[in-house]
Amino acid sequence: MDQTEHPLQPAPPPPVLPSAHTPSPAVTPPRPKRIALFGATGLAGGGVLRACLAAPEVAGIVAVTRSPLALTSPKLLELHHGDFQSLAPLAAAFSNLDACFYCLGTSSSGLSEARYRAITRDYALETARALRQASPSHTFHFISGAGARLDSPFLWARVKAETEEALTHADLAGLVCYRPAMILADRPPNRFPWFARAAYPILRLARFFPALSLNALAPAMLQIELEAQRAGTLEHPALRAAASRYLARRRPA
Ligand SMILES: NC(=O)c1ccc[n+]([C@@H]2O[C@H](COP(=O)([O-])OP(=O)(O)OC[C@H]3O[C@@H](n4cnc5c(N)ncnc54)[C@H](OP(=O)(O)O)[C@@H]3O)[C@@H](O)[C@H]2O)c1
Repeated sequence: MDQTEHPLQPAPPPPVLPSAHTPSPAVTPPRPKRIALFGATGLAGGGVLRACLAAPEVAGIVAVTRSPLALTSPKLLELHHGDFQSLAPLAAAFSNLDACFYCLGTSSSGLSEARYRAITRDYALETARALRQASPSHTFHFISGAGARLDSPFLWARVKAETEEALTHADLAGLVCYRPAMILADRPPNRFPWFARAAYPILRLARFFPALSLNALAPAMLQIELEAQRAGTLEHPALRAAASRYLARRRPA
């Protein structure tokens, strides 16, 4: 879509403070959120996209993709982009955003260390840079992984930890890192090779690893943004708790 047709309206002006004679309203409803989403074609990002589309608290989503999404919505602006090392051409679409849900990522398997680091760390840092410039007060929500550690023997865990660390120096107004172990969903991640895809139903049932349902991860990320949490590294217990708070918010009073 042409960026000049951006359906997301600019932020409304801040509310005028009531004068001493004006009775103040009991509660001012929060302004609906405008969200940037990376990785929307994937397992985690797809779940976050569906949650955002269903959430009345989300006014609009700017999804930056390299492959097309299978759905459209008046709330969704999809921007196809080929070069995630440089998001400068998309700058105009990144203004007035409240948050970025960064779900882009891949497996280190079959990739050189340099390539895996470029996709995992450099793309995330470029996204943080571009969004900080256009929407300085946004919160960056980064999906890392359980076990991310600078001294890990595993490449993926070291690079995820490096990325978390680098993002803390990216001058962001807010940074929240999510550390799921295996994300359980009704389909495997795109990046799984064919044999792992074939074995996924068994893997899913057998639960060899600590797992978090996608039905918990996506609402948890939304809830953290809606609560305006601006820092933290969240693992399964905190994510499940946040998801429960989100579901409680959805229940009729
Ligand atoms: N799934 C899990 O169990 C799990 C557990 C812990 C952490 N995580 C983390 O969660 C994040 C999302 O994982 P996922 O399971 O949703 O993976 P996924 O299903 O493979 O989706 C990955 C997403 O990233 C995009 N992407 C991958 N490589 C790219 C590249 N070189 N350039 C542009 N876009 C690229 C994909 O776009 P295309 O559709 O165009 O390929 C897709 O949208 C990753 O960072 C992963 O490490 C996942």
